[in-house]
Amino acid sequence: MCGIVGYIGNKDALPILIDGLKRLEYRGYDSAGVAIIGDDLKVVKTQGRISDLENKLKNEELKGSIGLGHTRWATHGVPNDVNAHPHLSESKSIVVIHNGIIENYLELKKMLVKEGRTFRTDTDTEVIAYLIEEFYEGDLLKAVKKTVELLEGSYAIAVMSKNERDRFVAVRKDSPLVAGLGQGENFIASDIPAILPYTKNIIILENGDIIDVRRESINVYDKNLNLITRNIKRIDWRIEDAQKGGFKHFMLKEIFEEPDVIREAMRGRVRDAVVEFPELNISLEYLKSINQVYFVACGTAYHAGVFGKYLTEKYLRIPAQAEVASEFRYRDPVIDEHTLLFVISQSGETTDTLAALRFGKEKGARTIGIANVVGSSVTREVDQVVYIHAGPEIAVASTKAYVAQVEVILLLIVYFAKLLGKLTKEEESNIVNDFQKLEEKARSIVLRSNEIADFVSTTKSIEETFYIGRNLDFALSLEGALKLKEISYVHAEGYPAGELKHGPLALVTPNSLVIAVITYGPLKEKTLSNIKEVKARGGKVLAIAQEGYNTIEEVADRVFYVPKVANDIGPIINVIPLQLIAYYMAEARGLDIDKPRNLAKSVTVE
Ligand code: AGP
Repeated sequence: MCGIVGYIGNKDALPILIDGLKRLEYRGYDSAGVAIIGDDLKVVKTQGRISDLENKLKNEELKGSIGLGHTRWATHGVPNDVNAHPHLSESKSIVVIHNGIIENYLELKKMLVKEGRTFRTDTDTEVIAYLIEEFYEGDLLKAVKKTVELLEGSYAIAVMSKNERDRFVAVRKDSPLVAGLGQGENFIASDIPAILPYTKNIIILENGDIIDVRRESINVYDKNLNLITRNIKRIDWRIEDAQKGGFKHFMLKEIFEEPDVIREAMRGRVRDAVVEFPELNISLEYLKSINQVYFVACGTAYHAGVFGKYLTEKYLRIPAQAEVASEFRYRDPVIDEHTLLFVISQSGETTDTLAALRFGKEKGARTIGIANVVGSSVTREVDQVVYIHAGPEIAVASTKAYVAQVEVILLLIVYFAKLLGKLTKEEESNIVNDFQKLEEKARSIVLRSNEIADFVSTTKSIEETFYIGRNLDFALSLEGALKLKEISYVHAEGYPAGELKHGPLALVTPNSLVIAVITYGPLKEKTLSNIKEVKARGGKVLAIAQEGYNTIEEVADRVFYVPKVANDIGPIINVIPLQLIAYYMAEARGLDIDKPRNLAKSVTVE
């Protein structure tokens, strides 16, 4: 998720671009750059933050009243000066900034190389600039229109030509893009905060919209360049609210982003009834040699690893363990060259996880990183890395990254099972079919968040809770309990439902709240019995159950139904109500949800 901003008007563009980028830094901040058309088209860009770009600009003379700016969250190509946006066409007459992922950029790049083009960077974005130049015959709008017809993937792009100083063109598909209308000046941005100080008159562009932005006009076209009308909204948010997209906290915004994250995490990996990981280079011979799998991580990432353990053994029939990184390297685990170590980390900088990674490598394990931040330490030290494409996660409590971690882990296991001949084509096709429905099912859950808020309002004085479940519902219970603890400060334990009677049931009283996760179909009757054990002691039970399992209403005090999905895929979306319980409990207590006490987003100490 990057930040893009564009300006055309009668003022100096540079300060407006820099100011806008600073308000988009929460969208990405590993490199940044600007392009301005003055006497000539000039580009200045750098690895690092906006402040690093400002330092670099002190030595440059960038005057002009039309320009584009970009702050990057790398998806292809490590963060460095060369890979930073904006990107130029081969002749340097066209310049592009881009937010998203072009899935077919390698095919397009090969086609252009065959035509004799020479590329300068590793990015997918540069291909867009080269293509526009291929199609440019004096009309930027037409050249852009022809280019996007070839693109597959997600993109919000903005394009300038040094031969056309009175307009820029932008396009939106699956990545957000807004336009702002001023007096004799107009703007575009990935998100409203970037331009809100200059105009409150905003157009929220829709997928497929192509816009021609000039000083006195913004024209919106469909993919065939037919003029279309888009409503102008008046936005009266404060800047800080706008950065949260109108949500009260980043955590809630990030939960509501989860349907989009689910789509982005599978992009390029699930299509035409097939699961694939083009970025992985794993031989069948090596896969067959693996005799032990570890998922090593901390906190929420560890809980994603527990999910991986269950499904690795189920699908691959290889012994698998989920290990807390801070314990793993001190218990002298069995590791050799036949060990595969999955290292899971949102930040990619967690000291305990890095130490466990280094320990495992020393012992001969092969390592695959499951990461969110491109170029982070974990991604540089593992043998191979698979990115979850969740975008920057600002809230300390991890939500959308967990959803993407669980999703990518399952896809990897399915992919390996296929390679090992442990999955039929029909089974793979059914899984793909289920994945393609996940985005909308996740959206149907987040849109019912008020049901969770309503339930929490009746239990906000609770001082401790149990989260219980069996199999994958147990893995979810661990994550639900951690979320509640870390942002609402209510003590919670995630426990195997079948284990409650072996001790913890002694704690259950009429003042107890138990969140029972009962979505894993094969064991739901067992879990139902455990819920009855709690009810027999007077405990209050909220059940998270699949639609149609109405029996649960005879036992639980409240039920939140989640859409039916295949048992092994369910946790990707069934965690959402658990995240919302934690959020609304913390909100009800008036706590600092995005920055909970004692905690840091990335724990870089042992
Ligand atoms: C999760 O909500 C917490 N912020 C914390 O447990 C976190 O998951 C853990 O510190 C691991 O972080 P990482 O994924 O960046 O390595």
